[in-house]
Amino acid sequence: MSPIEEVIINKKSNINPIWIMRQAGRYLPEFREIRKQNPNFIDLCLNKELSTEITLQPLKRFDLDAAIIFSDILMLPYGLNQSVEFKKNIGPILGNLALEKISSIGEAEFVEKLFPIYELIKLVSNSQLTKNKTTIGFVGAPWTLLVYMINKKSPKLNLNENFYEDKSLIDKTLRLLDKFLKIHIKNQIDSGAQIIQIFDSWAGLLKEKDLAHYVYDPTLSLVDYIKSLNVPVICFPRGIKNYKNFCEIIKPDTVCIDYEVDPAKINKEIKIPIQGGMDPKALLSNKENLKKEATKYLDIFKDHPYIFNLGHGVLPETDPNMMDYLVKTVRDY
Ligand code: CP3
Repeated sequence: MSPIEEVIINKKSNINPIWIMRQAGRYLPEFREIRKQNPNFIDLCLNKELSTEITLQPLKRFDLDAAIIFSDILMLPYGLNQSVEFKKNIGPILGNLALEKISSIGEAEFVEKLFPIYELIKLVSNSQLTKNKTTIGFVGAPWTLLVYMINKKSPKLNLNENFYEDKSLIDKTLRLLDKFLKIHIKNQIDSGAQIIQIFDSWAGLLKEKDLAHYVYDPTLSLVDYIKSLNVPVICFPRGIKNYKNFCEIIKPDTVCIDYEVDPAKINKEIKIPIQGGMDPKALLSNKENLKKEATKYLDIFKDHPYIFNLGHGVLPETDPNMMDYLVKTVRDY
């Protein structure tokens, strides 16, 4: 069993495996080099040789315990024929959500469009570089995907005013997402993904009263499905504030926390394995401060099954030498 599985399945607390959200990405010059030659981000995700190479890039540099596949949560709307474009310095821009068009898509067509992702997972999990490491597949949570599909761009701080206007569109989209997310998850697992992480990056935008409908119910459906396949699931409901409630309702195998919650409080309140937490900005400071910050999380979770990670993705301006220092600090703890 790999160290991450030891923590999640066997609840080991005397090891501190580490992987980093967005470990394959823009802070690495070797990624930027490939990206320069490949201006279309979706095409790059669907190029199985290059996306395999990018997935493995951080493992060649750093002693990490997992490979997270190089892909994107927005490959799902792409698979449903909603157009997705990544604009430099702006982020993703989606086309209109035409429900008639996406409801007519069948499973075979969807899987064919995303097929290179499944081939990439096979290549990654069969690579020598992932021996005794974990291959992590992922999806966006239904709520976060709904946000992108209806808002058509990153919401930053607020959703468009008329976001909730068309309730029937919202509910039909949620039903479609449930169906196709399960298909996407099943195919990732069949191709070699050993753990699935569900990213709910915009959970923090919801009011408490709306959490049940948009976060708890649709996430629980996916979590129960992943568990039925005997694969562990990590949930990252970023910004949700009440992680304790979330864990009691959803019962994920592991919960990933953001950098705005108090880790000491989480340690007391939550019994399941925990992942993440450290502010990605700590990597932009100096080695002394980085070590202090990382050690804070390792100390707090000393007797808790804990996977080291950040409280959100590594920032593009991060110096790879600082990442190296972080991985060594966690290893030497
Ligand atoms: O290393 C890894 O973590 C694997 C790859 C990965 C990417 N996106 C590649 C990527 C993962 C796990 C994601 C998840 C993802 N994508 C999330 C959830 C996590 C989070 O950050 O909250 C979200 C919300 C997205 C949607 C998305 N993709 C946005 C908003 C953007 C633009 C802004 C940004 O952060 O870059 C992307 C583009 C994207 N996805 C890039 C990468 C490496 C940058 C592409 C580029 O311009 O080169």
